[in-house]
Amino acid sequence: MIKLLIHGCHGKMGRTLSQMALSGDAFAVAAGVDKFPDTYKTPFPVYGHIGDCDGQAEVVIDFSRPEALPPLVDWCRRMKKPLIVATTGLTQSDHALLREASGTIPIFQAANMSLGVNLIMDLVAQAACVLGDHFDIEILEMHHNQKIDAPSGTALALADSVNSAFSGDKRYVYGRCSRTQRRDSAEIGIHAIRGGTLVGEHQVHFIGTDEVVEIAHRAQSKRIFAQGALEAAAFIKSKSAGFYTMKDLMLEHSAVTQLYIEEEQALVTLHGLPAGDAAANLFVALAREKINIDMISQTAPDGGRVVLSFTLPLRDADRSEQVIGQAGIPSSRIDIRRDIVKLTVEGPGMARQTGVASRFASALTRCGIGIEAITTSETKISGCVDASCRDSAANALTEAFGL
Ligand SMILES: NC(=O)c1ccc[n+]([C@@H]2O[C@H](COP(=O)([O-])OP(=O)(O)OC[C@H]3O[C@@H](n4cnc5c(N)ncnc54)[C@H](O)[C@@H]3O)[C@@H](O)[C@H]2O)c1
Repeated sequence: MIKLLIHGCHGKMGRTLSQMALSGDAFAVAAGVDKFPDTYKTPFPVYGHIGDCDGQAEVVIDFSRPEALPPLVDWCRRMKKPLIVATTGLTQSDHALLREASGTIPIFQAANMSLGVNLIMDLVAQAACVLGDHFDIEILEMHHNQKIDAPSGTALALADSVNSAFSGDKRYVYGRCSRTQRRDSAEIGIHAIRGGTLVGEHQVHFIGTDEVVEIAHRAQSKRIFAQGALEAAAFIKSKSAGFYTMKDLMLEHSAVTQLYIEEEQALVTLHGLPAGDAAANLFVALAREKINIDMISQTAPDGGRVVLSFTLPLRDADRSEQVIGQAGIPSSRIDIRRDIVKLTVEGPGMARQTGVASRFASALTRCGIGIEAITTSETKISGCVDASCRDSAANALTEAFGL
């Protein structure tokens, strides 16, 4: 259970967050802070100033006002507490303060805590790369009539994401009413609408000749932001000092997203292969016979010799042995294991996640499963195990990666 301190606990977001945190077993609210501490009755103590709090909480979440940030950061540094800043409308000096504090405590900052919005941050950058300068880009955001800052921090973050595809060359134009001139292609138009109880909508329009591409996100309740803040709390709790964003959280979530199993595989190992062009000659000979190989690994030369191994479908094992013989590949011994399965875990966030290979290997060895071969790439890890261990290996990996 993670003990939270909610800063701005009586606001719309603070109340949504405390209700969600208190509704399950994963979180507790140790304390709240609000400028008007007596506004509501709560099952946790509420203080009028952060300086009045003790250090019971493990993670601090802030949904308040930008002017409350400096004393809050000071307190978190003094108490060595991870801080999640969800408040928007931060100034450049607020951002500088957070960066500096991240040298001593973990800081997580996001102008928008929704997973969906953070997904479209990447999508708009991809769209901008593909569509390029031939499309005019206009961003429209809509929020409730109580929102103070405009345009929203999210609209600006979306503009920055689009602009990253143009090396920052685009210029932001806010509204057009005072301009009596044509739009030029170096602009990104940003527009804000305020009204009623709209939770938050962001639309990015790529407007070309005779076609329009739109990428949009609609928030239907404030709960999505509170949910993101709770996920951020679980993410940051055991992190070391540093500056974290939703991108880091999403990459951690997507470190391993799937497991797949290839049955009826063979593992071929050539011992004593001369270092040099023998391996390349072997690959050419196998490719000529249309034999597909995978999980290629080779040792560093030792006395001018290497050990080379690779996997292939079991149906090609005999044929590969013939091909190796016919191609005159000069190895001292060939072993072919015909009773193996290949298990692969994969995820787009693996490249930025440490410890995936160690979780993979220890999950299998903890169950007494020997790994016959293992290879890694930026987005996947594959391991070969004896076919008799197929189910136990699959279960161990499913559990280790929460799949
Ligand atoms: N990052 C996100 O995903 C996200 C989502 C929604 C809202 N927000 C932002 O969170 C902030 C709060 O939003 P809200 O809708 O709950 O606003 P709100 O006005 O309803 O709540 C703000 C609360 O902070 C309190 N407060 C003000 N100054 C304070 C201070 N100095 N110390 C302690 N408490 C103080 C107020 O009394 C109020 O209860 C805004 O900046 C908003 O834009 C961010």
